[in-house]
Amino acid sequence: MEHLSHDILIIGGGAAGLRAAIAAAELNPKLDIAIVSKVYPMRSHTVSAEGGMAAVLRTDYDNFDLHAYDTIKGSDFLADQDAVEFFVKEAPKESIRLEHWGCPFSRDPDGRISVRAFGGMSVKRTLFATDKIGFHLLHTLFQTSLKFENIRRYDEWFATSILVDNGQVDGVTAIDIRSGELVSFLAKAVVIATGGCGRIYQFTTNGWIKTGDGMAMAYRVGVPLKDMEMVQYHPTLLPNTGILITEAARGEGGHLLNKDGERFLKRYVPNKMELGPRDILSRAEMTEIKEGRGFEGPYGSYVNLDLTHLGAETIEAKLPFVKELAERYLGIDPVHEMIPVRPGQHYMMGGVHTDIHGYTGLPGLYAAGEMACVSMNGANRLGSNSLTECLVFGAEAGIGAAEYAIKQRSPSFGNPVQGLALEEEKRIYDRVLKSETGEKISTVRAEMQKTMEEHACGLLGDLKKRMKNAVVEDKDRVYNTDLVSALELDFMLDIAETIAYAALARKESRGAHSRTDYPKRDDVQFLKHLVVYETGTVPRIDTMPVSITRWKPEARVY
Ligand code: FUM
Repeated sequence: MEHLSHDILIIGGGAAGLRAAIAAAELNPKLDIAIVSKVYPMRSHTVSAEGGMAAVLRTDYDNFDLHAYDTIKGSDFLADQDAVEFFVKEAPKESIRLEHWGCPFSRDPDGRISVRAFGGMSVKRTLFATDKIGFHLLHTLFQTSLKFENIRRYDEWFATSILVDNGQVDGVTAIDIRSGELVSFLAKAVVIATGGCGRIYQFTTNGWIKTGDGMAMAYRVGVPLKDMEMVQYHPTLLPNTGILITEAARGEGGHLLNKDGERFLKRYVPNKMELGPRDILSRAEMTEIKEGRGFEGPYGSYVNLDLTHLGAETIEAKLPFVKELAERYLGIDPVHEMIPVRPGQHYMMGGVHTDIHGYTGLPGLYAAGEMACVSMNGANRLGSNSLTECLVFGAEAGIGAAEYAIKQRSPSFGNPVQGLALEEEKRIYDRVLKSETGEKISTVRAEMQKTMEEHACGLLGDLKKRMKNAVVEDKDRVYNTDLVSALELDFMLDIAETIAYAALARKESRGAHSRTDYPKRDDVQFLKHLVVYETGTVPRIDTMPVSITRWKPEARVY
């Protein structure tokens, strides 16, 4: 097996990974940094972000405490308040840095970056670039990363495992998808930034690449996953595809209507209406549908998003992508017609446990972005906080990894690392690829997605057993996407199980986690994080305290 060596490896080429790479490269130009990404960075899921990124820039009416309070209340008081305080203070610095790197934000006539309203935020603080912030942010970071000669990239390389020797990280194994060969990468420090795991679910805004790879790799080497039961449903997805219709549509004044033409949110979030938080709005839509006030369509039940009163000029200037999506995927012109929408999986509040500096607790391993849980989102993230989170904590993870790497000697490719890499090679090529009889990968994946709608722990265990006998039909090595799908599914099944077990253990309703058998929030028993450990059999659940600095938990009323 070939082995390659770098000082720092960054797994994932989206916003958090690129920001980590730039931060490490700036800290020390002598560090040899590599980004390993299963897609070209410009195809990472960051590109699909639409509405904007939150930061306090308008200090005439906004301040850090207000942004922190909104975020903590939005989290249903499960966010770690020290992490939130750190985040809100760093957010404007990261935004201005991005502006200086060339991000083409939308501008007010006076030249300032425009801000818009977003759900759960008390004031307008979401910076935007029409409704394509992800595309522009990703381009800006990617182009900035090209300036650094000490950042090299391995595009279309799929990381499969983290190599740990003597309680510290020594690198990863990864498949060069083009050749199909497994290579071991040695590194003094590794940053994982592989995004969320929305593809565990059937109906999601997430791209096909979001399969929880980094979460599972970290989990398998003993790093706990935190807040996994906290899965965010976004209220406005196109019913036929799961494509996101940005919250910016409501930020700019759009209305949600039931089949009686009523703005039903007056019964759920009367003071916020369409700008209420996502967990409450998604549940409100489902209640309307269950109680017979939704519409029935060829792709299931839905409610309407009405933008017709905004006028063509606003829609074309501020929401051109919404218009394009509605036209292209539904044949609807939102200037004149309502857009059918329903809730669907969008984001994971939970992920790999880290501290404020992206450190996972395993020496040499750092994590950032959606796959990490610092935890600043607690039980419900506010829309537009996550891109800024990728920048703030991506930078922290990059700096943390760089400072650590500077002090370390390069690992060598002796045992046990060599043994671990060879064992991984056997797992992939002798077991997963060679299996001749059994179920299709796609059958097991579809059943997992169905099972996740029911959160059935036992069924997931059965699926894991079935997965061991599933068949990769393409036996070639070159560009074997069937093999990659099998390895992704293997990761997803581990993560699905952590979600289901954590959801079962949290016997209360809080934020996105809603149980009919425990309908109330229970601060006495559950004002704590649940953390999940891999055991080889069923996941083990433990707890961690929530950091409360200045905001005591209170009833969450909007
Ligand atoms: O609706 C949106 O534009 C989504 C934003 C977010 O998840 O932060």
